[in-house]
Amino acid sequence: MESIKLQPTNKALNGELEIPGDKSISHRSVMFGSIAKGVTKVTNFLPGDDCLSTISCFRKLGVKIEESENLLTIYGNGFDGLKEPDEILDVGNSGTTIRLLLGILAGRPFYSSIIGDQSIGKRPMTRVTEPLRQMGATINGRKDGAFTPLSISGGGLIPIHYKLPVASAQVKSALILAGLQANGESTITEPAKSRDHTERMIRKFGGEIQKDNQVISVNGNQTLKGTEIHVPGDISSAAFFLVAGAIVTGSEIVLKNVGLNPTRDGIIEVMNKMGASLDITQQTGDSFEPMGDMKIKFSKLKGTVIEGELIPKLIDEIPIIALLATQAEGITVIKNAEELKVKETNRIDTVVQELTKLGAAIEATNDGMIIYGGSSLTGGTVSSHGDHRIGMMLAIAAQICRGEVILENPEAISVSYPNFFAHLNSLKN
Ligand code: S3P
Repeated sequence: MESIKLQPTNKALNGELEIPGDKSISHRSVMFGSIAKGVTKVTNFLPGDDCLSTISCFRKLGVKIEESENLLTIYGNGFDGLKEPDEILDVGNSGTTIRLLLGILAGRPFYSSIIGDQSIGKRPMTRVTEPLRQMGATINGRKDGAFTPLSISGGGLIPIHYKLPVASAQVKSALILAGLQANGESTITEPAKSRDHTERMIRKFGGEIQKDNQVISVNGNQTLKGTEIHVPGDISSAAFFLVAGAIVTGSEIVLKNVGLNPTRDGIIEVMNKMGASLDITQQTGDSFEPMGDMKIKFSKLKGTVIEGELIPKLIDEIPIIALLATQAEGITVIKNAEELKVKETNRIDTVVQELTKLGAAIEATNDGMIIYGGSSLTGGTVSSHGDHRIGMMLAIAAQICRGEVILENPEAISVSYPNFFAHLNSLKN
């Protein structure tokens, strides 16, 4: 599929969606299931390309993983059960896979080589390879281990006391996973709170981890035990339909069982500030990750400022928030979001470039963007640039364009939301 034509329908979007499983939690369920002892059963696993890359890497590391329609079963044998792979580990497009995998492999006394796609080849790895080398891992790679292809051999790790230069859950998680295998206690300090799925998962698998403000402490030589995981719906996927409901005239959409982890809920805060009609019913009960239902209705919106500690809580939602802001009254400013430059694409550039093609008034800045609201979008030929979230943002934009939108490279969307178009079309019936 090289491109797809999206015709203007001028139709309200109505209905209910069961949002697919959270990508971050799905990756971690395979990784923790693989390093734990015993069987782990995962329901609502996201069968997106990124998570399938994680499964493929752990199979090559000798872990038995069974996939059926509604259940993923992982037969973990502990860290020591991982075996030297006789094939190259291919992480595809997935930054989470490569960075967390490096943390696990840093403690393993064998050799692995890792590659990914073209986009992964541009993403910075020094942020993980440097602290993992400090712990004792041997890592080689292009530009002294800054980029893939990489090779790693590990074992005999010493604990680390590390201040993260950026608020990154991937780096934090890599160091926690290495710390679990080190000889003593490691501490990791975050500049701002990033998503805490790894910390929650360690506890769910019977391990221990402490958090005191922004300082995380984890002991080495821990043994994790297999468990049962239900993956909540991905709020980052729900975000596309939250925005669709808010900007397509007359819409009303219900999103069921969406993850409401407070380290991921920045979009809710922003939509409330912008005046969206958004109702949330959080489920009660003892879930290791909170979840609930969301109801969004079309309404008038106003511009806002998004900055500081809010950024890590909505970093993946910025492309779709930019679209939302084009339909608000007034200006929206996004600051302190330079991390967008090192995502699947440079998302400051790709968002600004593609929305401009559709007639939006939007400017790139050094650390974010400025969006002038109230634009009426026209239509045209746009590209996902191979970035799933850019592709979905543009497909939602097409719902409010006056003319046809031709979306190039829509297949990238299967990285995180394989049934995205089926869900979108189901809201038009
Ligand atoms: C992720 C963390 C975030 C996020 C990515 C998934 C994770 O990246 O953008 O999509 O699963 O830990 P950083 O930790 O690099 O900010």
